[in-house]
Amino acid sequence: MERKRGETSSSCDKKVIGRKEKSMSLEKDAKKEEEEEKEKLVTLRIFRGIADDRSQDRFDVFTVPYVDGMVVLNAIHYIQSHIDPTLSARWNCKAGRCGSCSAEINGLPRLMCKTPVSQFVGKEEITVEPMKSFPFLKDLATDISESFEIAKNIPPFASEKESSTSIWKMQQIDVDKGRELRRCIECFLCLDVCHVFRRREHGYIGPRWIMKTATFDNHPLDSEDRSDWLSNIAGLQYCNISKCCEEVCPEHIKITEDAIIPEKESVLDKRYDPLFSMHIHAKDLDLNQYRKLKERTLLDQIQSVYERK
Ligand code: SF4
Ligand code: SF4
Ligand code: FES
Repeated sequence: MERKRGETSSSCDKKVIGRKEKSMSLEKDAKKEEEEEKEKLVTLRIFRGIADDRSQDRFDVFTVPYVDGMVVLNAIHYIQSHIDPTLSARWNCKAGRCGSCSAEINGLPRLMCKTPVSQFVGKEEITVEPMKSFPFLKDLATDISESFEIAKNIPPFASEKESSTSIWKMQQIDVDKGRELRRCIECFLCLDVCHVFRRREHGYIGPRWIMKTATFDNHPLDSEDRSDWLSNIAGLQYCNISKCCEEVCPEHIKITEDAIIPEKESVLDKRYDPLFSMHIHAKDLDLNQYRKLKERTLLDQIQSVYERK
């Protein structure tokens, strides 16, 4: 059968157009792949320096391949093993349990092993710096030993009521309170963010250690009065309850609500509330009496004072 001219040229055109479309889509695919490849690289600005010579302080820029699920600590390990083995960083468990890998990531105190890189990919560079509240050692490592010295000075648990060998009975409410505060992994991110602790103002011991004090004070058998120590030495009154410490805590402990505020209240009760201190001292009461007393309003307390007269 004879082909019509028009038909032949239009099918040729179609073929040419088809080839063009194919090559264009191949180009598009290649560009997409290239862009995806670019997206899979992560750029990190990492603080470098040594304590003995602060004139060498600087930021080094590293590019590392992105892998699904990677965290900032993985990127640091990649740099150490493939690019610069002299980079110093502290870490231990890689699981958010040891509290060793604390650093400031894009200005926020965070654990490197719990900060996913995915949130920064294609959006912003990742800047990693050491914690600023502690003496600097090298690169991302700081000296946190001073903090453990503070812990040694907290008046320890002491019970006048029962010997350590007797069976202790606790109510569930006290068990739960203690359990929450004991979730602390001692990462010291709360100390890093606390502006009062950072400036070492008035010797304030910082949120982690007020919390530790609260774990002793919350114990129903503890009979130590730490109110003088909290005011005169620990500087509790200088905390302005800004709650910044709570916001950075990787364990989501309600540091201010469940430790700092109750400690402040108890110091005020014991030192400044004339009705409270005149008539009742917490350590002379059993737990239930103490709770009932705390639940009563100030008016009730005033009334009871007049009744006693
Ligand atoms: S609430 Fe108190 S302890 Fe926490 S960051 Fe603010 S000042 Fe520091
Ligand atoms: S209270 Fe939270 S932020 Fe502070 S040291 Fe403990 S786990 Fe870290
Ligand atoms: S390495 Fe242990 S908390 Fe990050």
